[in-house]
Amino acid sequence: MSKILAVHASPRGERSHSRRLAEVFLSALQARNPQWHLTRREVGRAFIPPVSEAFVAAAFYPEPEARPLSMQADLALSDELVGELLGHDVLVISTPMHNFSVPSGLKAWIDQIVRLGLTFNHSLDNGVAQYEPLVQGKKALIITSRGGFGFGPDGELASMNHADTLLRTVLGFIGITDVTVVAAEGEESEARSFAVSAAEAEQRLLALVRSF
Ligand SMILES: Cc1cc2nc3c(=O)[nH]c(=O)nc-3n(C[C@H](O)[C@H](O)[C@H](O)COP(=O)(O)O)c2cc1C
Repeated sequence: MSKILAVHASPRGERSHSRRLAEVFLSALQARNPQWHLTRREVGRAFIPPVSEAFVAAAFYPEPEARPLSMQADLALSDELVGELLGHDVLVISTPMHNFSVPSGLKAWIDQIVRLGLTFNHSLDNGVAQYEPLVQGKKALIITSRGGFGFGPDGELASMNHADTLLRTVLGFIGITDVTVVAAEGEESEARSFAVSAAEAEQRLLALVRSF
């Protein structure tokens, strides 16, 4: 049995295309594997706090086992989010592109789950920082919707895509390297071209269900 964690980042609810596409995938996945467990984490329409000074002091406290109670409290949400991520086998992120990157709620979630000693380790090799990923055996699917066209790897705006590229980098940093991206593009173009792109994304998602 697999456990799926779906992180939803659009500030939009029923009008969100990334959410709708995620439902296409998740409902097909659940129809094929009814015993699989699905957990949802809302980061687009619920507030995930940004990193604060107290968070930094607590997260990088030199003796984590001896962290004062007040610092443990500062990390409570982060501990919960990290535990949630580590407790699932498959991560599905649905997100729009916002200003060439991800919405701030998703960035806040990233900042909460990239944790020294829990999802990555840091050491010095001849004085030079070395990083080691600590997360193993997970795969991720990023389902995204964009207003423009051409942000894919071979597209003419590829160099302006700091959204799923950011997610790939961060997930790889903590050890999740099996990452697939499915995008619908052109919501801000004429409706017909977006409909074609969204339909292609749906077909790709349905085909992917077998490989999860
Ligand atoms: C604040 C904001 C910023 C956006 N920035 C971009 C952008 O940089 N590039 C782009 O292609 N579309 C951009 N869009 C359009 C969204 O990516 C597009 O509407 C997407 O389909 C929204 O996904 P959703 O329906 O899941 O919310 C932006 C939309 C908003 C509201």
